[in-house]
Amino acid sequence: MALLNIVTDEDPILRRISRPVDQITPRIITLLDDMRDTLHKAEGAGLAAVQVGVLRRIALVEVEEGNTIELINPEIIERFGSQNEVEGCLSLPHQWGVTERPMKVTVRAMNRHGESFTVTGEGLLARALCHEIDHLDGKLFIDCTIRMIDEEELQSGSKRSRRRRSSRGNG
Ligand code: NI
Repeated sequence: MALLNIVTDEDPILRRISRPVDQITPRIITLLDDMRDTLHKAEGAGLAAVQVGVLRRIALVEVEEGNTIELINPEIIERFGSQNEVEGCLSLPHQWGVTERPMKVTVRAMNRHGESFTVTGEGLLARALCHEIDHLDGKLFIDCTIRMIDEEELQSGSKRSRRRRSSRGNG
C-alpha cells in the first residue's frame, strides 16, 4: 500500500489539462492501486490523477463503500436533468458550495485491462463522475458553484444527514 500526497490550495497543476492514456503500463496499474489507497484514506468520493500530481486522464469514483470505479480516459456521453447539491473537493479543504450538475450521466471509459465500458450514475454518482472528469480538464467545483457555504452552515441544524452526505461529496 502506498499513499500519495493530495495537492491542495489551488496548486497550479490543478488547472492543467491531463493527457490521455494510450497504453496501460505497470506504472499505470500501480498508480491506480495507490490512488485507491489514497482515496480510502482520505474518505473521499473520488480522486483524479492530477490531484496526486500526475497529468493523465485517470480518475476513481467511489460513492458506495467498497465499490471503486476506475476510469481511464473517461468521457461523458449522455446527460439528463439537473440537481443542485453541496459539493466539496479533497484539493480544496474547507470549501463547500452548491453546484448545478446533471441528475444522471453516462460515461464511457476504459478499465485497467484496456476494455471499454460505460457506467450510468444518478444523484451523487452523477455528481462525482462530473466532478472527477472536470479535474481532468483543469476545472474545479468552485468554477460552477451557485453559492458557497461556510462550515457553520454546513454543520448547523438539520444537517447531520446533509453533513454526512457532504463528506462523501469530496472529490
Ligand atoms: Ni475534487
